[in-house]
Amino acid sequence: MLKVYRHISEALTLQSAEKKDGRNLLADDLSIIKNAAIVCDDSKIIWVGPDDNLEEKYKRIPSINLTGKVITPALVDSHTHIVFAGNRANEYADRLNGVDYQLIANRGGGILFTMSQTRKATRSELFDLAKKRIETLMSYGVKTIEIKSGYALNYDKEKELSEIIFDLKNYFKKLNILIFNTFLAAHAIPTEYKNSEAYLDSVVLPLLTDLAKRKIIDAVDIFHEQKYFTTSDTEKLFKHAHTLNIPVKIHADEFNDNKGAILATKYNALSADHLLCTGKDGILALANSKTVATLLPGTGFFLGKNQANARAFLDSGVKVALASDFNPGSCHCDNLLLLASISGPQYKMNLAEIWSAITLNASHALGLKNQGAIIPGFDAKFSIFDCETVSEITYNWGKNLYSKVF
Ligand code: NIG
Ligand code: FE
Repeated sequence: MLKVYRHISEALTLQSAEKKDGRNLLADDLSIIKNAAIVCDDSKIIWVGPDDNLEEKYKRIPSINLTGKVITPALVDSHTHIVFAGNRANEYADRLNGVDYQLIANRGGGILFTMSQTRKATRSELFDLAKKRIETLMSYGVKTIEIKSGYALNYDKEKELSEIIFDLKNYFKKLNILIFNTFLAAHAIPTEYKNSEAYLDSVVLPLLTDLAKRKIIDAVDIFHEQKYFTTSDTEKLFKHAHTLNIPVKIHADEFNDNKGAILATKYNALSADHLLCTGKDGILALANSKTVATLLPGTGFFLGKNQANARAFLDSGVKVALASDFNPGSCHCDNLLLLASISGPQYKMNLAEIWSAITLNASHALGLKNQGAIIPGFDAKFSIFDCETVSEITYNWGKNLYSKVF
């Protein structure tokens, strides 16, 4: 069925950003159309332009009046860990008393604590917890969500987590929400195994084969950091993923510059994420690749660390996305728009860079090339906000202007 939106105060199309592949963006690359109209069918955008230019045949169709509203490409949160049980508020309190995140992990807290809570929860409890979190993300206008497994760390329960994400994907498809299922069993090393390689060989690799063959997962990820997974573990996992035709992603260079960004480009990763400590060589490798650099402003902020040098990535022509990293430990924040607001002054990003980072470039971080901009032929996925200009959305930081009506 055709839908016609008319008199939209501002339509943020990102047409120019899309032509530039989301790189080297200037403020004008927002490609905003004032008093705009959009025509789409149930799945694709058919026409977009100034309302004055709308063709007569579309004017005859009953339309939705968006006076006083802004329409943007639907928001994409391309990095979350939202299938977990319990919380880690006590560790947050410890951190505020000066205890470091890595020290907490070394003494059995951190990911391994959430693992113990998650293993105890039933499949339906975990489904319901994640479903509620997804509904909160949706309340900010997010319509594509990447979800990582990784809080069970044994064969049977990790399998269950990936299946739960698959069930969520089917459930939310009916609501026009796209869930992307990333397998992150290589998230930490449970104490049952003597080292990362033993865990990788016994659990991660065989389970990846099983899930890939059953077409449950969309990508694989690994926590490539000191005391977690080594470069040789990562290469082994990525080579195996390639034989199964599964794209790869990586948690890279968060605690040290251990060359995770370079590794990402070598294996054609969809994205390299975190990147707080990436050196010039890593930035250059990303700039010359298709791999998206996903920066997670909430995590550096919440852990009190030095943030990623976003300008160095942006000025080198890297394709940058922003995501929430919503998880129980390092970033317990589900509000992508708030994080986008903070990225302006923190990362010194202009509005075209910010908006591409949470729509177009975030879609590319999931291998999706048909969304993230308002262009005929692209997916008809929009977010509508209760304000008159694009700037107002992130200017009102911490306030949710997403329109619940449309
Ligand atoms: O991306 N670092 C790995 N994973 C998460 C943290 C998970 C946790 O602390 O529970 C991250 O920051
Ligand atoms: Fe993460």
